[in-house]
Amino acid sequence: MLISSKIKNGFNGKVLIPGDKSISHRSIIIPSISNGTSEINNILWSDDVINTLEAFKTMGVKIDKYKDNLIIDGKGLNSLKKPNKKIDLGNSGTSARLLIGLLASQKFESILTGDSSLSKRPMERITKPLELMGAEFQSTENLLPIKILGKDLKKINYKLILPSAQVKSGIILAALNTSGKSIIKETKITRNHTEIMLDSFGADINVKKNNFENIIEINGKKELNSKNISVPSDLSSASFFIVATLINPCSKLKIDNLNLNPTRDGVLKALKIMGARINIKNKRYNAGELIGDLEVETSELRGCVLEKDIAKFMIDEFPILSIAASFAKSPSIFKGLGELKVKESNRLELIRLNLNKCGINCKIIEDDLYIDPSKKTNLKENNIKTDFDHRIAMSFAVMGSKEDFNLNIENPECIKTSFPSFINIFNEAGGNLFE
Ligand code: S3P
Repeated sequence: MLISSKIKNGFNGKVLIPGDKSISHRSIIIPSISNGTSEINNILWSDDVINTLEAFKTMGVKIDKYKDNLIIDGKGLNSLKKPNKKIDLGNSGTSARLLIGLLASQKFESILTGDSSLSKRPMERITKPLELMGAEFQSTENLLPIKILGKDLKKINYKLILPSAQVKSGIILAALNTSGKSIIKETKITRNHTEIMLDSFGADINVKKNNFENIIEINGKKELNSKNISVPSDLSSASFFIVATLINPCSKLKIDNLNLNPTRDGVLKALKIMGARINIKNKRYNAGELIGDLEVETSELRGCVLEKDIAKFMIDEFPILSIAASFAKSPSIFKGLGELKVKESNRLELIRLNLNKCGINCKIIEDDLYIDPSKKTNLKENNIKTDFDHRIAMSFAVMGSKEDFNLNIENPECIKTSFPSFINIFNEAGGNLFE
């Protein structure tokens, strides 16, 4: 149990947030199928990323750790070896969807498994488009464990209906080892770290923007060249600190080197609409990724209405955004959050349940979340249910920093999924968490 109690002063100083989780996964996958040695700096050492790392070691890739960096010795698109055991991806949906795509076009059989949460998450969203390319899988109801038969695939011309970067990336990785030009159209733009990194590794990938549509073209079978990567800090992880600073008095925090990729920065835009005092400085690019330094201060927040179309730009940040909305002076409505039901937990329901326990008026109508902080009652129950979901655990750790809350967060070990140093960094910045 993690106990989160009222803080003594504000959140202050400068925090160093670990590397971005999405970019860290890709920083293992892409160098592993490139030609040559890549050195990866500031990779996130969390359970999810370690599961990706172990998967590639199992497939024969030479990966060493030097100080805190990873040295990956890639030998090309077809250099992976048939794994001699099942690949266990733990809790990591990103590893599962991306590896299903990558392994569908390798010429060997492999089996992917995961923990009980991952084994309930839908995989047909990635297997269906891959089957159109000729991929073959064996599973029960498209759930993990899944056997990937590994085939020579045919190119695809595919329109993504579901806005999912994991699905898009899985298809791109399959297309890399498939002859001819594959085309993926996305009408709802999702995070584009895969496209950016592949371009910097010399892949024949081209993204055309056509009004509100992205057309991604990949000419397969072109070998990639190794490259060193410096992973920027994770905005999703930083958002717990940003909201903690905003809602607590006498707080001012600096966070440097943050990834500000415009397909990911919805949380900053939403918080600014809510009146957050967030200042972004030194915007710069590193290997195609936008980075900047942030200064955030205690702010008086108001509620906001967020439409369905912008949900994907902050899909992982709704738990912490809901905490911000709980301390605003007017109600908020966050629309179109159906995808939150199939994340590491049913996040939509856990946000509602736990906010209600905290006495915050919160309800779900269809896929929309309503939070009305003006109708607060006293804390009803201080045990926070996480269903082992890291982002629910960290969001309610932030909630507990406020006066009148003294929360017991269940299964805090799940925080290691994305942010093993969270408790230490939180306490160093002014938090009051103890196990
Ligand atoms: C991710 C994409 C998102 C996000 C997840 C990481 C990625 O999932 O929620 O945490 O790295 O591609 P979806 O693609 O399912 O929206």
